[in-house]
Amino acid sequence: MSQPLGTPRVVAVRTPSKHYDILIGRGLLADRAAWQGLPRSTHAVLVSNPTVFALHGEQALASLQALAPRSSHVLLPDGEAYKDWQHLNLVFDHLLREGCDRKAMLFALGGGVVGDMTGFAAACYMRGVPFVQLPTTLLAQVDSSVGGKTAINHPLGKNMIGAFQQPERVLCDLDTLATLPPREMRAGLAEVIKYAPIADAALLDWLEASLDALLAGDAEALAHAVQRSCEIKAEVVGDDEREGGQRAILNFGHTFGHAIEAGLGYGHWLHGEAVGCGMVIAATLSADLGLVPAAWADRIVRLVQRAGLPVQAPDLGAERWFELMSVDKKAEAGGIRYVLLQGLGHATLRAVPRAAVQAALNRHTVAPRPGAALPA
Ligand code: NAD
Ligand code: GLY
Repeated sequence: MSQPLGTPRVVAVRTPSKHYDILIGRGLLADRAAWQGLPRSTHAVLVSNPTVFALHGEQALASLQALAPRSSHVLLPDGEAYKDWQHLNLVFDHLLREGCDRKAMLFALGGGVVGDMTGFAAACYMRGVPFVQLPTTLLAQVDSSVGGKTAINHPLGKNMIGAFQQPERVLCDLDTLATLPPREMRAGLAEVIKYAPIADAALLDWLEASLDALLAGDAEALAHAVQRSCEIKAEVVGDDEREGGQRAILNFGHTFGHAIEAGLGYGHWLHGEAVGCGMVIAATLSADLGLVPAAWADRIVRLVQRAGLPVQAPDLGAERWFELMSVDKKAEAGGIRYVLLQGLGHATLRAVPRAAVQAALNRHTVAPRPGAALPA
């Protein structure tokens, strides 16, 4: 790695709707320089959850207080199960009670759940107010805080109600990852691994060599993983902000993963765990269809396994799998489309005969046993 960790790394995101920077470094929550240059606001509102707020809230609030004449915070309950309308309303209740106007700015301190909900609240409140992402999970730093997808879940489908709303800035403070539970760290690695097969074959080599350092929380390795992931995501999103086409490759493994999450009920498997397993199924399917060599798919399976992520899906039943996958946002006219690998570091979106999908599912599904559906 070229840059010392003392200097924040900067990844520029350039989309048609907004240009902004992702800053990656240590101690950014307390680093006033990292907060400079944001639009002036009348009221700075921190949105978080009790877990993250107890660990990192004070630091963030201190920085935020210097930004606006008024500041306040609102906490959402912790968990994917609360990423819904009812709990989104808590943000609107707070904003209205505090008399926040159109010049208010929201700050999302937390993982992807807080980030997605805060971004969606920002998109809706008074038809749109600015917001900043302060991601504190690996998953949020490498994926969900970047690119402007915001959403809540509906009982009939994950992330089905949402908006595109780009943040003003993303501050990835690597120090916040020190408090992240190991299971959450592994889940975040799934989204890092995702970028390699779809966009960067060299990243796959690097991940195979650096996985142990990443799992041990090595700051240099994490900085590189976050930076490279954000660079790839910024490039894809810059070319296709609203997912007219190519952005869909960022959903590698997600068609299967979302079905696992919805099929088991949100909150049982972590999003990253479901995506990890989904990538295994999608890689197998790609190899079965002759799009990549089987040895290539095996590399992905091994990496996912080494990252401590599940490679066997719960048995949802064939009908339920396809029913859940047809709710996917990539589906067109009811037909399911899958992100598949096509060569080294390239992906494609296409429909696939159901029998081929079923065969890949059969290879990566465990028979239902009490407790077997949940990863250790
Ligand atoms: P999460 O937000 O639920 O966070 C995971 C857990 O870690 C939570 O209990 C949280 O309180 C805790 N936590 C967060 N930061 C911590 C820290 N520094 N120390 C200790 N604990 C901490 O889950 P996630 O994996 O960050 O995000 C998953 C969500 O992101 C899903 O809802 C998914 O749909 C969404 N997502 C969105 C996009 C997008 O482009 N918008 C992309 C990928 C995922
Ligand atoms: N996480 C997929 C996307 O942002 O498009």
